[in-house]
Amino acid sequence: MAQVETDVLVVGSGPAGGAAALLLSTYGVPNVVVTKYSRLADTPRAHITNQRTMEVLRDAGLEETVVAQATPQHLMGDTPFCTSLAGEELGRLHTWYTHPARKAEHDLASPTSICDMPQHLMEPVLVNAAIARGTRFRYDTEYVSLTQDASGVTATVRDRLRGDEYEIRAKYLIGADGGRSQVAADIGLPTVGQMGVAGSINIVFEADLTRFVAHRPSTLYWVLQTGSDVGGIGMGLVRCVRPWHEWLIVWGYDINGSPPDLTEEYARRIAHQLIGDPSVPVRITSSSAWTVNHLYAERYSSGRVFCAGDAVHRHPPSNGLGSNTSIQDAYNLAWKLAHVLKGTAGPELLETYTAERAPIGKQIVNRANQSIGDTRRIFDALGLLSTEDPDQMQVNMAARKNPGADKQRQALREAVAFKDYEFNTHGVELNQRYVSPAVVPDGTAAENPRDDELFHFATTVPGAKVPHAWVGRGSSRLSTLDLGGHGRFTLLTGVGGEAWADAAASVGAELGVEIAVVAIGPGAEYEDLYGDWAAVRGVGDTGAVLTRPDNYVGHRVETLPADPAAALGAALRTILAR
Ligand code: FDA
Repeated sequence: MAQVETDVLVVGSGPAGGAAALLLSTYGVPNVVVTKYSRLADTPRAHITNQRTMEVLRDAGLEETVVAQATPQHLMGDTPFCTSLAGEELGRLHTWYTHPARKAEHDLASPTSICDMPQHLMEPVLVNAAIARGTRFRYDTEYVSLTQDASGVTATVRDRLRGDEYEIRAKYLIGADGGRSQVAADIGLPTVGQMGVAGSINIVFEADLTRFVAHRPSTLYWVLQTGSDVGGIGMGLVRCVRPWHEWLIVWGYDINGSPPDLTEEYARRIAHQLIGDPSVPVRITSSSAWTVNHLYAERYSSGRVFCAGDAVHRHPPSNGLGSNTSIQDAYNLAWKLAHVLKGTAGPELLETYTAERAPIGKQIVNRANQSIGDTRRIFDALGLLSTEDPDQMQVNMAARKNPGADKQRQALREAVAFKDYEFNTHGVELNQRYVSPAVVPDGTAAENPRDDELFHFATTVPGAKVPHAWVGRGSSRLSTLDLGGHGRFTLLTGVGGEAWADAAASVGAELGVEIAVVAIGPGAEYEDLYGDWAAVRGVGDTGAVLTRPDNYVGHRVETLPADPAAALGAALRTILAR
């Protein structure tokens, strides 16, 4: 049987596989992608692209490409809860950090902005850049099976065009083959939870809905109607794909019954029902059934095979975490593979992938499913849970307008505000902290004084994401995140920390790794433009923050030690498992 050889074989070209290939190629690691179908995603699917993902894309040089195609934040977040688009509005929530108070925090947290980038637009960005940087890409090629030994993995793949099979020999394999991952099954990853918790359908359609939505621009329009609490994601959803003429409806069905017959007529009826005006011309593009899942893997790898994305965390779209977490998995894994393949890190570094990402997978799966449950508060406040009679439901809902219904009105306001836990979880997105041998603790812990799900807490405690601060050089303004990344380690120091440069040079030469040293402060290489870095850096002027290639803090030192090379060398040897 013919055999192809590469360093890393990536199975799947979704957000996880596309990002893995992109980053591996960016780091100079030879890789091959095989993907089952003859195309990338042909429906919008995941869309919310949070700041952390935008930071990954910024590091990969693709932020501007995404921004040029995405719907910007200011059109994303005036989110209504209504009886239909044409019907009554029951409440409205500033989502995705568009509330002025949250917007300020959003802008302070990152050099990037959250945006709405539908998956059928995101995948080509990732894959095209990966190919341009060296990825060898094969459509119509299905992963069939694998065997592994001490030096590599042999995967059998089927060319779906020709019908024959061949082998690909790789040093490592990444299973990014989605929610029905064959790779994860073949390597026996242990999972917790359940598939098929609820039934849902997506209906993609074109319709000019400007007159219903442009005055309250949002990426999501939530619809409460009789039956909209059955299955699905908590209530009916009309999601904007392209303002204001391309849309995707999410509507539930009872998973214990048979899935609805997805005829065009059925899809059009649901569309008109949620729009609330049957005279609106609607062109149905596609409809498909899917299930809400609540499942995560406790381990992400076995031997030389690693899984990422939906292969290891399966959950509903609530909180918009699907493709974000998949891309972030890849960012965590790619630099580790690059270093191990180069021989600059021990293979034990790869074990930190599970240690760092599996707790995040568990957290986001639970968070997303919890958000569906939280929606019932709104139904409850409207009196929709106490009866199954549609007429009585209307009466109960209307009761909120009565004098004396203060309590009901208050309950409804609170229930809508509580959806902050679905639409404004800045902490869930940015506070992902790692505890693993690839992080050298300094005896401190990150204690967020506010709700850790809702609010970002910027810190340089080892294991946290590098905080953003604007720094200046001449007329240019960069983020501290721009100083790090790029596949290398970076030491951020200050005035009086010059000795770190010699330390980095000698340790870098000894370990064969690139360590950039950047001084920030008055008269140093970069100015701390607004004093933001000094406020958050957590070390003194002569100390240093060691950032990993994924812009996570690997270690920090309060002040210049007597032997900075020894301190830096010890930290890097630990991180790199040398
Ligand atoms: P993803 O499923 O995107 O990619 C898997 C890749 O593996 C594909 O390229 C596939 O072809 C390939 N593959 C599978 N088996 C293979 C094999 N044996 N050999 C080779 N290749 C193989 N999320 C959200 O936030 N909002 C939403 O509205 C939706 N809607 C939605 C609709 C539908 C229909 C789906 C399927 C999914 C969603 N999602 C979603 C979920 C979101 O799309 C998901 O979280 C991410 O795509 C996960 O990215 P991955 O790369 O892990 O898997």
